[in-house]
Amino acid sequence: MSDPVSRAAPEPPAQRLMGCPEWVYLLREFETLYRYGSAGGSRAIRSHRKRVRETLSAVIETNPEIVARTPATKPVAAYLDRALDLGERGSLQGLARALRHVSGRLTWEYGYERVPRTLERKYAYCEVLGPQGPIRADRLILGLVLFAPRTTYPQHSHTEIEESYISVAGAWSENDAAVYAPGSLILNRPGDEHRITTGEHEPCLLAYAWTGPEERLAAPGMKLSSTRRARTARGI
Ligand SMILES: [Fe+2]
Repeated sequence: MSDPVSRAAPEPPAQRLMGCPEWVYLLREFETLYRYGSAGGSRAIRSHRKRVRETLSAVIETNPEIVARTPATKPVAAYLDRALDLGERGSLQGLARALRHVSGRLTWEYGYERVPRTLERKYAYCEVLGPQGPIRADRLILGLVLFAPRTTYPQHSHTEIEESYISVAGAWSENDAAVYAPGSLILNRPGDEHRITTGEHEPCLLAYAWTGPEERLAAPGMKLSSTRRARTARGI
């Protein structure tokens, strides 16, 4: 009789990026966005773009591990198809198409321990690359955030993390400063307070990148700003 231990099936080898063409195509689209988009004359945005694309190129070069994450949905994901339809008609059509190919594998989450009830049905994000996967990286997080129409995403800031949002579909505003169309990029530096609102009729899909210290990217500690702090920052 053979030893049960020796009969155990061997561990399957870890899956790597280059064995998953759909993830490769999505990363290439992110790389294209950060390589060829304009910095609008801003030195800070130019250096952020450079940091993102160089870190991303280095990650791709290592053929990183693909972490098996369980797909998860949230109510707002019901708007994803419409957002991708809009995205495929706009300037970020390459990213929208690449995203559609992996849409069944995304892990949608809230990130906050306590999500305001009004936001539960109107917001969620999914990571594409980062310390939690699905494409493993320590020095960069790439992901997508999806908002329903008529959403206010409350004021917040990120400690030690520099964040950029690039519109894929829909119209949105940050801090009531302007209306941003597909292709626009917003840079939020560490500690910058920001609040997002979205248009009345269509969902809004943003691609985002986070750079910062590895230990902070591993545990970003997402927190909405207190009501008083948010009001003070908005001059109310
Ligand atoms: Fe943010």
